[in-house]
Amino acid sequence: MTALINRLRGEFEKSFGGSVEFLPHPSVAQNFCHEIVDAHKHPLCAGGKRVRPTILALVAGSINGDTSWDFALPAGIALELVHTYSLVHDDLPCMDNDDFRRGSPTVHKLFGDSKGVLVGDGLLTRAFEVLSVVPSVASESDKSHTAIWASQSILALSRAAGFEGMIWGQWLDVSKLSDAQKNSEDLWKRIACKKTGCLLGAAFEMGVLAGLTSVSTLTETLYSENVDELKTIARECGEHVGLAFQIVDDILDVTASSEQMGKTTGKDIRQEKLTAVHLLGIEKAQELAATETQKARECLDAMCCGLRSVMGRELNFEYFSALQELFQSLLMRHH
Ligand code: IPE
Ligand code: IPE
Ligand code: MG
Ligand code: MG
Ligand code: MG
Repeated sequence: MTALINRLRGEFEKSFGGSVEFLPHPSVAQNFCHEIVDAHKHPLCAGGKRVRPTILALVAGSINGDTSWDFALPAGIALELVHTYSLVHDDLPCMDNDDFRRGSPTVHKLFGDSKGVLVGDGLLTRAFEVLSVVPSVASESDKSHTAIWASQSILALSRAAGFEGMIWGQWLDVSKLSDAQKNSEDLWKRIACKKTGCLLGAAFEMGVLAGLTSVSTLTETLYSENVDELKTIARECGEHVGLAFQIVDDILDVTASSEQMGKTTGKDIRQEKLTAVHLLGIEKAQELAATETQKARECLDAMCCGLRSVMGRELNFEYFSALQELFQSLLMRHH
């Protein structure tokens, strides 16, 4: 893994905890806020692979190098907050009923089911606060372009997370399926694309928004048709990465140990989930993950062309090559 990816992950890691503190710290209520803050920090800071914020920062950096960080940081935190909420709710007894996540007991195991629901809600809501607050603390001269970035990012994230996006996938995932549906490749693809692909799509789209906004002369282009097209390709790219990512997750549920994954494996068969392994077997599923990764690379090339024409210059080579490298390592991952 490149030094750049490790550096970006390290920077994000330093900021996740602070994003769920009481702001400002209350003096009187301090004694009462420990548990709620701890419960929100627990899943967020337990450590995850941080795939979504890393992709977002690499896309943004491909556009404008380290300068894009001012926007990539809050956007990446918001996206990881939404992803973490989706895991907290996914693990609840009424969903996948999991005891372990990211190598630790799940939130509802430690704090009870009601607080598990509330922590998910709290993380989700805080994500939009993190994005909305940026324009209000920006200097007068930065306010307007920062406000455009925030509204566009909120739109991208809420659409990806909402009931036409990730929630739709989760909805289908927990729905009772007929025998014919249990063998439908189309339905499986729809589920994986929505439950996992949409948030990965948001990583690419929000990366484009962060990168272009950091080139202040390009912020206005966020409303242009050229950038609309770019955002569509970015989302498509994320959906292919997401499909490949979910296929590998389905394979690892069968082949990896719980220790390796930091979550209980072997559950998909027991819970009769419609997975790539159930439909295709491990070998064919791995081939399909490779095909989806190849399609993602093709979208990335198209995105790269579109960005070059919007910016009138080349992409940042270091960031762009790290992004290409990440595609391969996600495909070959063992956890
Ligand atoms: C787990 O996501 C849920 C899926 C979409 C398969 P990750 O595998 O990215 O989980 P963390 O963030 O590393 O814990
Ligand atoms: C969950 O998919 C995707 C989400 C939107 C959270 P899984 O149910 O397969 O994820 P794991 O295996 O529990 O991480
Ligand atoms: Mg699930
Ligand atoms: Mg699950
Ligand atoms: Mg899984």
